[in-house]
This record gives sequence, C-alpha cells and structure tokens, in this order.
Amino acid sequence: MAIKQAPLSPRLSIYRWLPGMIASIAHRGSGVVLVLSVPCYLWILHGMTGSPQDFDSAVALLHSPLGRLGLWLASAALIYHFFNGIRFLCLDAGWGESRDMMRNSARVVIVIAAVAAIVLGVLLW
Ligand code: HEM
Repeated sequence: MAIKQAPLSPRLSIYRWLPGMIASIAHRGSGVVLVLSVPCYLWILHGMTGSPQDFDSAVALLHSPLGRLGLWLASAALIYHFFNGIRFLCLDAGWGESRDMMRNSARVVIVIAAVAAIVLGVLLW
C-alpha cells in the first residue's frame, strides 16, 4: 500500500502562492504596520500641538528620508488594509465566496494597493 508523504507541519515552501493567500498574509502584515505606526502618529500629533521646538522636530522628521519612508509605508498599509478589509467584510457577509470570486477580488485589491503605493511614492519623493 502506498503511503502518502504528507508534511507533518506547515512549511511555506510546499504552498502554492495563490492570490487569496497573499492577500490574507498581506492583511496581517499591514495590520501590524498600522498598529506599530500609532505611536509615531501620536508623537507627530504631540509635536504639532506642543512647543515650537516640538513642532520643528516633527516637521524635520516628516521631511527626512526616514520620515517619508515611514509615511509611505503607513499610508500604503492603510490603503491596502482598508480595501482588503472591505473585501474580508464582504466575504464575512457571504458575498463573493466562490473560488474564482475570492481569487479575482484578491487580485483587484492587490493591484489597487500596488498602484496607490506607486502614486504615493511619486508624490512623497
Ligand atoms: C481603514 C479601515 C479598516 C478596515 C476596513 C479594517 C478591516 C479589518 C478586518 C475585516 C479585519 C479582520 C480580518 C480577518 O478576518 O482576519 C482586520 C484585522 C486587523 N486590523 Fe483592521 N481595518 C481597518 C483599519 C485598521 C487600523 C487603522 C488598524 C491599526 C491601527 C488595524 C489593525 C488591524 C489588525 C492588527 C488586524 C488583525 C490582523 C491579523 O492578525 O489577522 N485595522 N481589519
């Protein structure tokens, strides 16, 4: 009798990278980026409403390469997370649950987020 050699633990190398899987992993990644960016927003908000020195520090950070990169990353993550979040909520409501619809909606979200990330990058640099 042939024994099927099924893997005993999840290994990334055995999965086929389908659009739905990429969209789900990117949703979690973008959620982590958004949570980590909250302290940065608060620091900038504090700078904008604090002393003139705090204001200057916040503006200097926002105009620095690191600040622009952070702003780009947080904005791109928010745009992706928003569109894929709407997609997830539609799936939760039972809309677009067929395999084709799930794959196509994931493709649409990934393309929208990629275009938005490129436009943002151009605007910020
Ligand atoms: C802009 C509107 C947003 C929408 C429509 C949205 C939607 C969603 C949805 C539907 C989920 C659940 C995904 C699932 O079923 O696994 C989720 C997860 C999550 N969201 Fe959002 N979200 C939004 C904004 C945010 C913001 C602003 C943050 C952070 C500051 C955030 C952080 C997270 C995190 C950390 C998760 C858990 C990800 C995971 O580990 O699976 N979201 N979001």
